[in-house]
Amino acid sequence: MKGVTVITHPLVQHNLTRLRDARTQPQEFRRVLGEVAALMLYEATRSFAVRPVTVRTPLARASGLRLQREVLLVPVLRAGLGMLDSILQLIPSARVGFIGLKREEKTLRAVPYHKSLPRRLERFEVILIDPMLATGGSAVAAMDFLSERGARRVRLVNLIAAPEGIRHVHRHYPNLPIFTAAIDRRLDARGFILPGLGDAGDRLFGV
Ligand code: PRP
Repeated sequence: MKGVTVITHPLVQHNLTRLRDARTQPQEFRRVLGEVAALMLYEATRSFAVRPVTVRTPLARASGLRLQREVLLVPVLRAGLGMLDSILQLIPSARVGFIGLKREEKTLRAVPYHKSLPRRLERFEVILIDPMLATGGSAVAAMDFLSERGARRVRLVNLIAAPEGIRHVHRHYPNLPIFTAAIDRRLDARGFILPGLGDAGDRLFGV
């Protein structure tokens, strides 16, 4: 699908399969989700802007590259938290914003309950993190908050995406790049991704 990068790396797919397995308990689920998030980050950050710099090694001058912009990670609560720590280990200088959204069971509407974001987001490369892209309502609501604050360079990282969610997000934000480990079949009547992995928040935290 246009605008979507499916990360087919064997380690990502191996871990995704463990996460899908209903026998995987929260303790292991947390660990594996962290591992897969770190692996996905490599792909999601591949096109970060860099600028040339020169440094002095102990022996000579060497040309190199530095990231051009600060990085802001934005996990969508709760499940996005499961991908945060391992990504932060790879980009320790990143700042972290939070968006809390809860999908209403009946309407599937994403209801905001928390927002903590820096101002002037245009200066950041923003990575919006949520394991699941189902109807896409949460991702669009999160993007609305980020856009209001001026974010211009955002990448959305989802472990699993439903075609319905991708279409919904790209209707509202046609240029938003989406990185995922899988585009699943479809949503069921309750708005769960099939085959998916169940409720990511529940699988992570056991409630
Ligand atoms: C789940 C999931 C995503 C959202 C995806 O979270 O973690 O955030 O639903 O659904 P959507 O694309 O249809 O909006 P939920 O709202 O259940 O909250 P939780 O993470 O606290 O469990």
